[in-house]
Amino acid sequence: MKIKGMKNLDKIAVIDFGSQMNQRITRLVREAGVYAELVSRKTTVQELKQANVKGLIFTSSPCHVDAPDAFTIDPEIYEAGLPILAIGYGLELMISQLGGEMKKLTTHHDSLPTNWTKETPLLSNMDSFEADLAAKEIITKIPEGFEVIATSEDSELLSIANVGKNLYGLHFHPESPRTENGLDMLHHFLFDICHLDAEWTMEQFIEQEVQKIRETVGDQKVLLGLSGGVDSSVTGVLIQKAIGNQLTCIFVDHGLLRKNEVQEVMDSLSGKFGLNIIQVDAADRFLDKLQGITNPEEKRKIIGKEFIEVFDDEARKLAGTKFLAQGTIYTDIIESGTDTAETIKSHHNVGGLPEDLEFQLIEPLNTLFKDEVRALGTELGMPEHQVWRQPFPGPGLGVRVVGEVTREKLAIVRESDAILREEIKNAGLERDIWQYFTILPGFKSVGVRDDKRTYDYTVAIRAIHSVDGVTAEWARIPLDLLAKISTRITDEVPHVNRVVYDITGKPPATIEWE
Ligand code: XMP
Repeated sequence: MKIKGMKNLDKIAVIDFGSQMNQRITRLVREAGVYAELVSRKTTVQELKQANVKGLIFTSSPCHVDAPDAFTIDPEIYEAGLPILAIGYGLELMISQLGGEMKKLTTHHDSLPTNWTKETPLLSNMDSFEADLAAKEIITKIPEGFEVIATSEDSELLSIANVGKNLYGLHFHPESPRTENGLDMLHHFLFDICHLDAEWTMEQFIEQEVQKIRETVGDQKVLLGLSGGVDSSVTGVLIQKAIGNQLTCIFVDHGLLRKNEVQEVMDSLSGKFGLNIIQVDAADRFLDKLQGITNPEEKRKIIGKEFIEVFDDEARKLAGTKFLAQGTIYTDIIESGTDTAETIKSHHNVGGLPEDLEFQLIEPLNTLFKDEVRALGTELGMPEHQVWRQPFPGPGLGVRVVGEVTREKLAIVRESDAILREEIKNAGLERDIWQYFTILPGFKSVGVRDDKRTYDYTVAIRAIHSVDGVTAEWARIPLDLLAKISTRITDEVPHVNRVVYDITGKPPATIEWE
């Protein structure tokens, strides 16, 4: 993968050897104010230097260093004059390429007390410290020109350096919260060894991206599909800042959005930020197509297909539009590592628009992590509720009405969801709970109200903690708060006589019910 962003800025390249740790390291470097990108191990020294790379970090890998198909790197890299911090697998690769020796590690420790043995710019004046190990091998012979700078208490070599060549290796994870002073080590590498400045800010990102968008687009027109979500909204506001009304947005209301959502998006993005938005009221189209459909997968397919058709109909009315903007973010691209990234990206793109609609893509957020997208939105003056909006599925409330979607059932989910959100907000738990919403399971049960028997719907509440939606734990909402929410829902939402709380994690359940 080519280096994508901040062309003129001094930066760190985190070389991708396939570990998820890559992303964490890249983020930590950026948090320290230095721009970093995850880069393919096949990138040449010349390409790195042209992109103003001033230091390299080699990280872990699922590979074993002596496996025949192990990920390697051109050994020319060690002679390029670029400082290298090699961690875990990265260190083992460096040792094997520079003539050191290792043998298989047989006993595994998660973490070890570690002794600092030598003053270097990376490890300086330290006491013994706990380190989260990243070793698959034991180092038995260090390469020429290197010295040992930290060992375990039983003398296992845990860190080596060739200070003259700025080559450093750690057999533990500096990015792990379990490694004491790990962040300091990373900072020493950035500021004392690579001599970088902390100059990466959102302000600067905006300046550079605005200029880049202007240069790319010229006097042409850009189209953007708005969903009301964080990524597309921030993309819209950023592009608007660059090219004003050369940007047209299409906001499809499929009738499956939450209470007041359409109005809030329009008030903010059109009202406050002046985006030119074509709001398409397509609720009838979607609900007609969903009539009688109960299978969750079929519902999703219908909603997705209809969405593209509505967007397509609108896009065709805008003759002469050359560019399509998308809110693709960095994680969408690097999820499975940079060498496989291009395929992932092409799947993610455009979401199945017909081929005869030929657009050139612009994706201004494609170097940013989610928390950076939020910081960018904040820097652009967007309100907190918009940049911290909880995840919301594309098929919207359509997958929160279990079974057939009808207007009556949608109204129940919409109203109960609004009550839940209001109460979570009033309790100050908005930022603590990753995602929270209501579901209409679709069955009726017996109840009693004003001394009369009722036969009405049940509403389920789902509230979860998660980092990325891949796994989740149900949130321990205070019982008094649950009681209040339940009472309000049964009092205020017609046709609901029972409220239940979903106490299942993911796995075994998914977050959404369909
Ligand atoms: P599940 O239900 O698979 O959801 O545990 C994981 C996360 O993904 C969201 N989700 C979607 N997001 N389009 C989206 O953009 C979808 O079709 C979709 N389905 C689920 C879900 O809300 C949760 O945050």
